[in-house]
Amino acid sequence: MQKKLLLALALSCAGYQAHAAGDVIAGKAAFAKCASCHQVGRSARGVFGPQLNGIVGRPAGATKDFKYSAAMMNSRIVWSEASLRAFLKSPNDVVPENKMRFFGIGNDRQIDDLLAYLSQYK
Ligand code: HEC
Repeated sequence: MQKKLLLALALSCAGYQAHAAGDVIAGKAAFAKCASCHQVGRSARGVFGPQLNGIVGRPAGATKDFKYSAAMMNSRIVWSEASLRAFLKSPNDVVPENKMRFFGIGNDRQIDDLLAYLSQYK
């Protein structure tokens, strides 16, 4: 009984820290790397890349106003913080032959910040 309670506490702390780790303001600055292709916010639409509203929890290739690669459409990924983290580090390893022309981000901190920024847009 007590063990279970401790485990639950530990898990909820871990969850809290995962969120607290990212900095929204720094994430907004980091989004400059993405903003030439991606939009977020109320009027966001697909341009050079798909709009990213509600990206955490969204299936890959799901927006209707953007033409995805077959690779992305067939990836069967549902974007989670973990899969986004992996994709942003190395897009071509996670979805080979996708058409996002982006080298990837090596800095974990910056990815946390970006995820914190993106999760504001539901
Ligand atoms: C040069 C343009 C470009 C840049 C820069 C870029 N992307 Fe992309 N992104 C794309 C394109 C194009 C796709 C669609 C890929 C496909 O269909 O294969 C995409 C796809 C994605 C997806 C999957 C979306 C979905 O609906 O499944 C995510 C998430 C994403 N990008 C996040 C980012 C983030 C975060 C950044 C900045 C760190 C970034 N991208 C930088 C062009 C870009």
